[in-house]
Amino acid sequence: MSDILVTENIVGDGMTALRKAFDVVFEPDLHEVPQELLKVISQFKALVVRNQTQVDGALVAAADHLRVIGRAGVGLDNLDLAAVSKAGIVVAYTPDQNSVSVAELALALMLGLARNICPADASTKSGDWLRHEFTGGELFNKTCGVIGMGRIGFLTAMRARAFGMDILVHDAFVHRDAAAVTQVCGQMVDMEELFARSDYISCHLPATEKTQQSLGYEMFSKMKTTAYFINTSRGQVVCEDGLIRALTERKLAGAALDVRQVEPPGRDQLTEMPNVILTPHIGAFTREAQVRVVQSVCQDVASVLIGEAACNYANFSRPNRK
Ligand code: MLT
Repeated sequence: MSDILVTENIVGDGMTALRKAFDVVFEPDLHEVPQELLKVISQFKALVVRNQTQVDGALVAAADHLRVIGRAGVGLDNLDLAAVSKAGIVVAYTPDQNSVSVAELALALMLGLARNICPADASTKSGDWLRHEFTGGELFNKTCGVIGMGRIGFLTAMRARAFGMDILVHDAFVHRDAAAVTQVCGQMVDMEELFARSDYISCHLPATEKTQQSLGYEMFSKMKTTAYFINTSRGQVVCEDGLIRALTERKLAGAALDVRQVEPPGRDQLTEMPNVILTPHIGAFTREAQVRVVQSVCQDVASVLIGEAACNYANFSRPNRK
């Protein structure tokens, strides 16, 4: 019987401290072979993952001694939370530790699209000096539509506001007078109106049964032909075929995707589009956020293992199982 199994690349001071105090088995590639993980999971009291390890009902059923799962990140779509909770296992996660980094990436992508930074960089490095061809636009006085006004949506709206943008918000669970909305002088609108009126749309939806492929051709074709779509949340919320069709038909000016339906996605039509920026799910990947994420999740895993409560938990702070 061992203490902790780590199935993804999670390193840093927080992990070093955990390794000093507990017996930690570090298998950063084990998420790629779920059948092997299934065989060994019963030997551990804690499992530490990012978003690649699929914690499904079968894994939970085999995890006889598991007391805590540390999720180094905020999205919980790789965990069957109902099954984990039913088994009495704590899910410790990091709801706020990487929000600023993701919001900053959303703004970086907006600016990248507005100022043609990626194509201008490629062209200039190839020896050209095409100033007029890369005339861009300002964010100032434009409208930013924020889909999903959780922590990251709010921080993105704050930053967009600092650039002098008007804010539209769509969120099925947030009241139009909620502090997050009024603080950014946001106007709450339905999804259709947000797509029709925004110059930049920043998506911050979690992947759930309801949001799955919820943004498709029908929505993208409502956009201004000068507008851009940015997704730093989850690729599963977008129907990529619909987005590709809308881009091909020039229903919108371009897009930036940090997240994809399937990751890694391989080459496809999006790869070939000069008005599309693609990044490999790096929203949370800043040095600062990773220090906070690893520190927080490792501390919470340690707390649960010594019988104390987790600070950041998605179900309950102490295990219900004996
Ligand atoms: C998150 O959910 O925290 C980020 O998308 C990064 C990750 O999934 O690990």
